[in-house]
Amino acid sequence: MDQELTKLLEDAAAAFKAARNNQELQDAKAAYLGKKGRIGEQMARLKELPSNRRGSFGDSVNKVKTQLEEVFASRKAELDRIKLEEKIRAQKLDVTLPGLRFPVGRVHPLTRVWNEAVEIFMAMGFDVVEGPEIETEWYNFEALNLDADHPARDEQDSFYITGDTLLRTQTSPVQIRTMERVGKPPVQVIAPGRTFRRDAPDASHSPVFHQIEGLMVDKGITMGNLKAVLEEFNREMFGKDVRSRFRPDFFPFTEPSVEIAISCFICGAKGCPACKRTGWIEILGAGMMHPQVLRNGGFNPDEVSGFAFGIGIDRLALLKYGIDDIRLLYENDLRFLNQF
Ligand code: DAH
Repeated sequence: MDQELTKLLEDAAAAFKAARNNQELQDAKAAYLGKKGRIGEQMARLKELPSNRRGSFGDSVNKVKTQLEEVFASRKAELDRIKLEEKIRAQKLDVTLPGLRFPVGRVHPLTRVWNEAVEIFMAMGFDVVEGPEIETEWYNFEALNLDADHPARDEQDSFYITGDTLLRTQTSPVQIRTMERVGKPPVQVIAPGRTFRRDAPDASHSPVFHQIEGLMVDKGITMGNLKAVLEEFNREMFGKDVRSRFRPDFFPFTEPSVEIAISCFICGAKGCPACKRTGWIEILGAGMMHPQVLRNGGFNPDEVSGFAFGIGIDRLALLKYGIDDIRLLYENDLRFLNQF
């Protein structure tokens, strides 16, 4: 191979290897292997040569060309690999970095207790019904034996809308509405919902609060049924070791009426601040439905009987989660809510 060709091969190989990126490599390729490149120039020399030397010179040029193409290909592969490695390095994931925290919503403690209570009663066969928050005096009071001179009917204690309509002060009116709607026994429902009273807010009072009304009417319903249902509720809600205490009480819409307390689940009934050192915590009111209330709902008290109960959901939430101020349930302070 002549000197010029050898030099060309060396220069070209060096230029290819010196290329630091694809652009430089393509430029070098154009300079040597391109149409007007150095190899092309050598080919042009062919016709100047005597015919007996043309064959071997042509072979040499082609050999150089083939070798250069190989050098080019290998440098190209090398540059591609370097580029890929850089890309991988740049995109590397550092799994030791602290992760991003996404805020997660939570169920409000009041809603949790509400749902839990509803599920306990549903498991015992109760249906869930609702009644209006705006009630008439008839449903909210009169039909429940709270007559006009009852202290609860004082305008000071209720949010009246017109002379005859008010925000319901209890969920008990749903008793009457349900009996009317269903028309005949059996009735076995709970009615959870919002209730309203004109109380100044303090640690244990809120003008808006929540109750669950319960109602079970059929032939032959007794105090035994009442006891079984509410003892079961207390155990499911507060723990299987919790005992229930039934004491006489008075409500106009039940006769007899009972006040139900549970043994303190915090101190095991030994006496602590939560149970005011008595060992017992009052949690609900109940009783056998007054005959007049059954009649007001369109039922015949000579044929059927029933029991009713009312539970304060807010109070359940306070007790269950050891919260000492009902207002916390309504302030929507995230520092409070995030604890549940
Ligand atoms: N309505 C009563 C109240 O708001 C709670 C209540 C007590 C409901 C006894 C009942 C019941 O159904 O039988 O204080």
